[in-house]
Amino acid sequence: MSPGGPAQEAREPCAAGNRTEGALEPGPPWLGRRVVLGVCGGIAAYKSIQIARDLTLHGATVDVVLTKAARRFVAPLAFEGVTGRGPLIDLFAVGGAALHVGLGRDADCVCVAPATADFLARAASGRASDLLGTVLTACEAPAVFAPAMNDRMFAHPRTRANLALLDAAPGYHRVGPDTGRLAAGEGSGPGRMADPSAIVDAVGRALHPRGALSGATVLVTSGPTREPLDAVRFVANRSSGKMGHALARAARLRGAGVVLVTGPSGVTAPFGVEVVRVETALEMRDAVMEAIGDVDVAVHAAAVTDFRPSAPRRDKLKRESAGGEVAVRMVANPDIAAESAARMKPGAISVGFALETTDLVERAAGKLAAKGFDLIAANPAGEPDAGFEADTNRVTILDRDGRRSALPLMTKSAAAWKILDAVEERLRGGEGS
Ligand code: C5P
Repeated sequence: MSPGGPAQEAREPCAAGNRTEGALEPGPPWLGRRVVLGVCGGIAAYKSIQIARDLTLHGATVDVVLTKAARRFVAPLAFEGVTGRGPLIDLFAVGGAALHVGLGRDADCVCVAPATADFLARAASGRASDLLGTVLTACEAPAVFAPAMNDRMFAHPRTRANLALLDAAPGYHRVGPDTGRLAAGEGSGPGRMADPSAIVDAVGRALHPRGALSGATVLVTSGPTREPLDAVRFVANRSSGKMGHALARAARLRGAGVVLVTGPSGVTAPFGVEVVRVETALEMRDAVMEAIGDVDVAVHAAAVTDFRPSAPRRDKLKRESAGGEVAVRMVANPDIAAESAARMKPGAISVGFALETTDLVERAAGKLAAKGFDLIAANPAGEPDAGFEADTNRVTILDRDGRRSALPLMTKSAAAWKILDAVEERLRGGEGS
């Protein structure tokens, strides 16, 4: 199985609570694709209902296949309620003789979540003793396995050997398991099924055809920076990190290895992304400079605070001692994007952002040239449905050859996808759309 698996084992389990609703809209790489979701008999099966729902909301046609044991944990009707399609259970149903062949042949991805120790053993030896096993063996599309089991079962040498076999199989991908709370009375340990959102993203990654970003290394900066004024106060801006995080997620879905350097943001980091958390512009510069020489693409979506207090106080400035007025001397922060454009390897692509209240596109064109970007995404400030904090954005993409593409209002996830379309085109040396 390919990356996304073993690296996930080390990931701290991650709540998906503050994903924006935009992240669940129909769109690539799920839209119009057929996914078979195999559910095995483990307590994590209750979370598979959410996986089925989210894949459906993303625009996939989801056929759920329940093993006999899975039906002891979750009812078929629950899956029908979220997918609009009746789950499939019986290999030997009358009238469904070739069901397994059709499902396997037509699937763009088979996802097994939870994949129990028993199912992994059967998959590793190519068993086709039930509907799910036969679908898997009849399928040439990629498969994603989300193992879930007791920590002792996960540690068992046979389970490890089966996983090693599956990990080595081309087209097979693994997500998790995480370390965390197991079934009641079993405490915590490795074996908990990966978060449903991580599994949905792993399916998206498996569905996306190999493109110019597959295997590329992408650095994304995101969020604001905070510049300390004193021990408790800071200067910052309204950036939420939604655009940068959407770009990091989209790059990961397109097969890139992603480093996300982010200032303070309440948005959950995308799954499978290396996250470097920073606070100030100087910290962001250090993190970016450390990585920049090795990346194929850098996307500077962070709203770096342009000025910082020149001498932040170590203590808290007291109202009584300040009198009625406080003067703060500010110095300019380094321009991280401009500095890093010059340090990138030949052929690497640098993407900037411009957020302006007036003369947006003209100013963006000026920044594109001045900062050495290949592309710049211009987005308006001061509109309620675009720019800072909103879930949507209105982006114009400009490139260094003078092309301009004004996109309509769309969610930040959709805008991120479009920006990466433009990046891929340049990586391929394309002529533009
Ligand atoms: O000049 P302005 O701040 O509008 O530039 C916007 C672009 O430059 C963004 O891509 C932003 O991330 C980047 N930038 C930077 N370091 C700064 C200021 C801006 O990397 N100090």
